[in-house]
Amino acid sequence: MSAVIISGKDIASRIRAEIKTEIDSLKSRNEGNNDFIPPGLAVILIGDDPGSKIYVRNKRTACSDVGIRSFAYEMDSDVTENQILSLIDQLNRDPNVHGILCQLPLPEHIDEYSIISAISPQKDVDGFHPINKGLLSMGKNCLVPCTPLGCVEMLKISGIEISGKDCVIVGRSNIVGKPLASLMLNENATVTIAHSKTRNLKELCRKADILVAAIGKCGFITGEFIKKGAVVIDVGINRDENNKVRGDVLFDEAVQIAAAITPVPGGVGVMTTTILMKNTLKAYRGIIEKEKQT
Ligand code: GUN
Repeated sequence: MSAVIISGKDIASRIRAEIKTEIDSLKSRNEGNNDFIPPGLAVILIGDDPGSKIYVRNKRTACSDVGIRSFAYEMDSDVTENQILSLIDQLNRDPNVHGILCQLPLPEHIDEYSIISAISPQKDVDGFHPINKGLLSMGKNCLVPCTPLGCVEMLKISGIEISGKDCVIVGRSNIVGKPLASLMLNENATVTIAHSKTRNLKELCRKADILVAAIGKCGFITGEFIKKGAVVIDVGINRDENNKVRGDVLFDEAVQIAAAITPVPGGVGVMTTTILMKNTLKAYRGIIEKEKQT
């Protein structure tokens, strides 16, 4: 039997339609109101990494599809940290900007932590700021990193029970593995994070009811890593020898063993950008509510 394919594409297009409806109604309710400011997202791209350029372009397209204003800032790879910090400071204070993201990775001479920490936590639509990371690990309301939240939304919308399940996450990045572990724990899963130094990785993965691959190695997770009937979430976006986009999971093997699986492309990737739109709207609402109280 072949696994159910969890289509990120379908789920994302439904969520995007909901966001668009909400923004359209916000705009029509405020027609003629000169003080009205629509939701806005600032996207900072540093250097000329081809992958980052594509991601940033997709993010801006998603904004225009749902009715979010996007502001693009491109800086050369030899930009100084102070120049980036001064742009972030300006965006933190800009009333037209409700979300700020700086596309990663950054050039080597820039300290990622100092950039992430400079973004106002209220505008941190990536959920990378230490305050949001702390709130997430405490199970409090906050802006949550887009890719992990996209994974959990896919599971929930597909009606897959998380509570009580054994979840193994392969990959311990700050962007995916660690925040996803917090989210799954908050959903009452029993969570293990595995990484390059983990012993008996195959055996460990074979115990998982929900297996998440966030490694960055094309086809690393073969059928042997998967328990019969498990749910497999593939976060990887890699290029194979024919330059085709492939996940971290060897799909053709996994689909024969798993009960449900996310494809690549058309899986987690498109959810990331969609959750970014959701986070921007959430940041917008948070900022507007705060203004009303003052
Ligand atoms: N690079 C890879 N994934 C992400 C992401 O979710 N946000 C940002 N800002 N950079 C990334």
